Amino acid sequence: MRNGNRIRLVRLIVSAGVCVLLAVAASGCARPAPAGPLIAASTTMVTAWQVPQDPLKDATLTDPKLADQIRWGYRIFVDTPHEAPRFTGSKVACNNCHLNAGQRERSLPLVAIAGMFPEYNTRAARLISLPDRVVDCFLRSENATSPHGTDLVPSPDALPSPSSTEVLAVAAYITWLSRGAEVGKNPSWRGQNTIAKEQLIPVDQLDARKGEALYMERCTSCHGVDGQGVQVGDKKAGPLWGPESWNDGAGAARIYTLAGIIRYAMPYLNPNSLTDEEAQQIAAFITSKPRPRFPFKDRDYVGSKVPVDAVYYRE
Ligand code: HEC
Ligand code: HEC
Repeated sequence: MRNGNRIRLVRLIVSAGVCVLLAVAASGCARPAPAGPLIAASTTMVTAWQVPQDPLKDATLTDPKLADQIRWGYRIFVDTPHEAPRFTGSKVACNNCHLNAGQRERSLPLVAIAGMFPEYNTRAARLISLPDRVVDCFLRSENATSPHGTDLVPSPDALPSPSSTEVLAVAAYITWLSRGAEVGKNPSWRGQNTIAKEQLIPVDQLDARKGEALYMERCTSCHGVDGQGVQVGDKKAGPLWGPESWNDGAGAARIYTLAGIIRYAMPYLNPNSLTDEEAQQIAAFITSKPRPRFPFKDRDYVGSKVPVDAVYYRE
């Protein structure tokens, strides 16, 4: 055997061994293997902090400037309110919705998606790049449009743009999560947080009171009766409504989109235990609550119909 091959083989065995060890540590042996490089959707508190691809621990990141960018992007992703305060009006980190730093199956994973951009976006009615997408997340999910909890719209240069350093850093992290992935190939785990079309219940037939009863039963132990999140060990869920939540222009402010997150990612320790209907009733309850106003809603969905579940757009 040539030397190079032998080294490669040893590497393979070592990495396979590490994988097995990790899998055992993560799963207690009995759980189904995660899809590709992701943490499995069904999970325990043991895997809550696991990050299969952790740039803080990747010794192969040798270019110091690039490494700094990727690592800062990762830190912003997991602790947005502290690492990117000027663009974060909410108390919600990217990681609150994209669990395990965007690396958990059926929790809006972002692994291997960078090569799908630029992509046509109906809400924006144009082709958008990955940094454009990240800007949108800051503006809406992080509520960058009211960074100090007021309804005063900041001046345009105080808003995130595709060239803001924070946006570039987060885009660098997400791009790093795509290394080795085929450009233009949709990863199988993308777009799996959706309720099947035939299971969608017309919005006016959903009942926020039914949703509230389910919420009280299934969610308050971690999210609180007031929806603001309670400390559970070293995790604290983010505010589901109110001034510190995502704003009403966010994807998660749409009933069916929110139901898709809840259906497969929540309750945190028992995901996939709600029915499609229950997830939609709970989402109807959460979106019946007040949240910050996104001031640029009139610029969305130009040339197309506002989706029926975008309930905050009915003003
Ligand atoms: C309140 C929940 C929530 C938070 C917080 C959040 N996102 Fe998202 N994100 C979503 C949802 C829902 C989608 C799915 C698309 C949609 O909006 O309908 C999404 C989609 C995305 C996408 C596109 C994924 C794809 O496959 O095309 C990217 C990239 C992304 N988010 C990055 C971020 C970043 C970066 C942050 C933090 C700055 C963030 N998100 C914060 C809920 C959230
Ligand atoms: C065992 C605790 C627990 C239960 C029960 C639970 N959640 Fe969560 N939830 C969390 C944690 C923790 C996070 C944040 C995860 C993170 O940051 O890593 C979260 C995040 C969320 C998010 C993303 C935005 C945010 O506020 O953080 C939504 C939406 C959500 N949960 C909805 C629900 C709903 C609806 C239920 C009931 C069906 C539910 N959860 C039950 C612990 C729980």
